[in-house]
Amino acid sequence: MQILDGKLTSQAIKDQLAVKTAELKAQGKKAPHLAAILVGNDGASETYVASKVKSCAEIGYNSTLLRFEATISEKHLLDHINMLNENVDIDGILVQLPLPKHINEELVINTIDPSKDVDGFHPMNVGKMVAGLPAFIPATPYGIMLMLEHYKIDTKGKHAVVIGRSHIVGTPVSILLSRNTNPGNCTVTLCHSHTHNLKELCLQADIIVAAIGRPDFVTGDMVKEGAVVIDVGINRVADASKKSGFRLVGDVNYAEVAPKCSFITPVPGGVGPMTIAALLKNTYHAAIGQKG
Ligand code: GUN
Repeated sequence: MQILDGKLTSQAIKDQLAVKTAELKAQGKKAPHLAAILVGNDGASETYVASKVKSCAEIGYNSTLLRFEATISEKHLLDHINMLNENVDIDGILVQLPLPKHINEELVINTIDPSKDVDGFHPMNVGKMVAGLPAFIPATPYGIMLMLEHYKIDTKGKHAVVIGRSHIVGTPVSILLSRNTNPGNCTVTLCHSHTHNLKELCLQADIIVAAIGRPDFVTGDMVKEGAVVIDVGINRVADASKKSGFRLVGDVNYAEVAPKCSFITPVPGGVGPMTIAALLKNTYHAAIGQKG
């Protein structure tokens, strides 16, 4: 069993981006600039945004963090997004989700200029991705593909079972894995809450992508020997022995599943850091006017 090390892999990608950023600057061009919007003070969102902003600094990007109270009006938020759309110094815009209930997320996403939509959530980018055209690919699925690429995992003709059909992870990763690319060329089964025989399907999987958001959902008896297991879950489970009061666990029961795998991503330190590397890649492409 080999661990797919998201920290090392994302660092390798960040190192490449740092070199490319230094080259831009040496040519007298400006560094990529990411604007992140955080509404309210959800603990997990705070952590994610802080590490996105920190990673920008590490590789020489500029970043701007806009923080708003949870009570901000939808109109005020949309006005800020429009200002960022018009600001030529800003290359990429991300609005951390989820947003408070009184704000229409769809409207917010649709307001972001598609050429600055480094999260790849705008329908224009989703449509282009489905059509196989250059597009911003959402960071988590993109990060998973970069991880498979980095470890040269042979995916061609393999049966990939994706558990969870979210717009952010499950649906796009199932499309990417089925495309005629490398990595890709998988036969994909996309499972969700109405799937019958989930265990039987998982037992047929060469590759499992678990993206359901339920701690320890995938157990040892669901995984065949030699499978590649990608764990997208980042679940906070109460743990009084930790200073924070919680520990992070994935959607996969690591202790049971890891011994059966050829490759597995740990939590933390697997898909999470890859998501950030993918976002930074998207932001670089936005800065040089190239989508995808
Ligand atoms: N919330 C959970 N995942 C994501 C993500 O990839 N991007 C944004 N903006 N918010 C999220």
